[in-house]
Order: sequence, then C-alpha cells, then structure tokens
Amino acid sequence: MRAYYFDNLSGDQRLPHDYDPSRPVSPETLASLNIKHWTIPVLGHEEKVDAIAKERGYKNRDTINVSREGMGEIYEEKIKGFFQEHMHEDEEIRYILSGSGFFDVRETPTDAWIRLAVEPGDLLVVPAGIYHRFTLDEKDNIKALRLFKDEPKWVPHNRGPETDVNPHRIGYLKTINVGA
Ligand SMILES: [Fe+2]
Repeated sequence: MRAYYFDNLSGDQRLPHDYDPSRPVSPETLASLNIKHWTIPVLGHEEKVDAIAKERGYKNRDTINVSREGMGEIYEEKIKGFFQEHMHEDEEIRYILSGSGFFDVRETPTDAWIRLAVEPGDLLVVPAGIYHRFTLDEKDNIKALRLFKDEPKWVPHNRGPETDVNPHRIGYLKTINVGA
C-alpha cells in the first residue's frame, strides 16, 4: 500500500492525485492517526486473515464487488457517493482480493488528505471517527472482504458541525491526542 499526500487539484477523483515530486507519508504518521495495515499475499491469505480477525474480534465477513462492468449506468453516481467525506461509528476493515482503489483519510490537525493506494493483499483498518472517503481508480474495479464484529455500523456520517461533536469523533481525537 502506497501512502502519499493528495495534491488537492480538481479533476477526475480516480486519477492518482500525487504531487510531482510525490510527498510520501510514513508508516509512523499512519500509526499516529491510528490507521492499521498489514500486507498478506492473496494466495493462501485465509489463515492469516482469520488469525487477525480472531485476535481483533471480527467474527463476520462478506465480500463486496464494485466495478463499472458490473454496475453499468449507476457506477458514476455510486462512486461519487463513496467520495463524500464522512466517518463511521465503527472501524472500516477491508482486505483487497483483486482490483485497486484509493482510501483518502484526513490527517489531524493539518486537515490534509492522505491517499492510501490499496491493491490485492492489503488489509486496512480505518478507525472509527476518522474522516475519510473512497474511490476506485481508473481500472474501475475492486473486490474486497469486509470484516466486522456483530452489527456493523457502516452508516456514513457526513462531515459537518453535528458530526464534529459525535462521541465517536471526539473519542477518535482523544486516541490520537488531538482536541478534547
Ligand atoms: Fe467509509
């Protein structure tokens, strides 16, 4: 998984949006934002993914498949929806099986976007309360495992004054030692 600062230029969200030269983001910076990541080769991944799921209490899982081919006309609209800045009251855990895409996460307190380019073998944990968004890239397809505990709280809370005071948002800021 490559991590770098998003260039903030307008244009197709599916483009890399990498600065020239690129501004890479270190694993330490990601850890300070409470983002967790493992690389597990897809071939034979089951055992290792199961071990992490067990250790972290993710009892359930399903598979999602997003592609222009599979979705047809609603594809463009759908990926614009994923790209709306939001947070969840639960972790968002994804293991990429095929295809690729970008998770953009907000660095706090700078408010800069960090782009995480995910590809097969990446297991990513986006913490509860972090502002983020997702897009596919120009290859227009991704297949991923979604891991979760009992009841996934995947409702997106769009960024705004109300979400800024959501207890899960405040809790996240505390875990990274920023804010209240
Ligand atoms: Fe999300």
